Amino acid sequence: MKYCMLKDMRASRVVMGCMRIADKTLAQTEKVMIEALQAGVNMFDLADVYGAGDCERIFGVAIRDLEIPRKDYVLQTKCGIHKDAEGKILGFDFSKEHILASVEGSLKRLNTDYIDILLLHRPDTLMDPDEVAAAFEKLREDGKVRAFGVCNMSAMQMQLLKGSGVEIIANQMQFSPMHTALVDSGFNVNMYKDESTMRAGDCLEYCRLRGISLQAWSPFQYGFFEGSILDKEKFPALNAELEHLAEKYDCTPAAIVLAWILRHPAFAQTVTGTTSPEHMKELCRAADITLTREEWYSLYLSTGKKLP
Ligand SMILES: NC(=O)c1ccc[n+]([C@@H]2O[C@H](COP(=O)([O-])OP(=O)(O)OC[C@H]3O[C@@H](n4cnc5c(N)ncnc54)[C@H](OP(=O)(O)O)[C@@H]3O)[C@@H](O)[C@H]2O)c1
Repeated sequence: MKYCMLKDMRASRVVMGCMRIADKTLAQTEKVMIEALQAGVNMFDLADVYGAGDCERIFGVAIRDLEIPRKDYVLQTKCGIHKDAEGKILGFDFSKEHILASVEGSLKRLNTDYIDILLLHRPDTLMDPDEVAAAFEKLREDGKVRAFGVCNMSAMQMQLLKGSGVEIIANQMQFSPMHTALVDSGFNVNMYKDESTMRAGDCLEYCRLRGISLQAWSPFQYGFFEGSILDKEKFPALNAELEHLAEKYDCTPAAIVLAWILRHPAFAQTVTGTTSPEHMKELCRAADITLTREEWYSLYLSTGKKLP
C-alpha cells in the first residue's frame, strides 16, 4: 500500500467506501474490513445518509469489535443531504444547524469522539459560506472534527467557501475510465465539441493549485450507478486493454482501473465500495502499480474517446 498526506494524516491511497454495507451482516463487513486493514488500508469513507445511518452504525460496531485503536485509522464521513424517512432526497442543507446536528448523529453511530475529515456531500445552492465557516470552526474548537472537505464541487464553489475562510483539504468526485468529465474538457479547450463542455468547472486544476486532494468515488461505475465498467460485453475494448495490462502487472483488471485513477497526479486516493474480501485484497495491489504515460492514454482511448 502507498500513502498520501491529508493535512497531518497519513492515509492509504485506496480507501474503503462503506456505502454498500447496509445490507451486509456485521460478520461480512468485518471480513472485508480485516482484508482491507491487512492490505494496508487505513481510511474509511462513510456518510450520514448511507443506509439511513445504518452504514455508520454497522461500521461503528465493526471497528470496535476489531479493536483497532482510534489513532490507527482515518475516519471520513459526510453531511449536507436532507432525506425523508423513506430515503427520498428533499434537498441539500449546509446550514449550521444541520451540519452540527448531523455530526452529533454520526459521532454516536460511529462510536467515536471525533471525525477526522467531514465532507459536504452535494453543493447546497442556498448555502451561506460564512455559516458553513462558523459551523466548521465550532466543530474544530470542540474537538469533534479535525479537517474538512467537499464532494462534487466546482472550482468556484470551493472558492466561495474559501472566501469565508473555510479550509478544504479534499474534494470527492466521480472519476473512472468511463467517467472522465474532469479531464475531457482539459483535452478539448476552445473547441466546438461536446467534450469541451466544462462539467466540473476547472475543478481538477483548482485542486492541484490549492493542494486539495481529489478522491475518486465509484471507480467501477458508469453513468450514475448504471452498471459496472468491468462488463466485457458492454465495454469490450476497455476490458481487453484492462486484461492486457493486468497480465503485464500480474494483477486483476479491476486493480488496473484503480492504478489508472491513481496515476493521475491530481488523484491522491480512490474510494472503492467493494464488499467482497477477495476483491478488496486484489484491488489494494493498485497502489503499488505505476502505469506508464502511454498505458494511461491507451486505456483512456480504449473507451472510445478521441483526442484532438
Ligand atoms: N461523494 C459522493 O457523492 C459519493 C457517491 C457515491 C459513492 N461514494 C463513495 O464511494 C464509494 C464507492 O462507491 P461504489 O460502491 O459505487 O464504487 P465501486 O467500487 O465502483 O463499486 C463497487 C461495486 O462494484 C462491484 N464490483 C464488481 N466487480 C468488482 C471488482 N472486481 N472489484 C471491485 N468491485 C467490484 C462491487 O461488488 P462486490 O461487493 O461483490 O465486490 C460493488 O457492488 C462508496 O462506498 C462511497 O463511500 C461517494
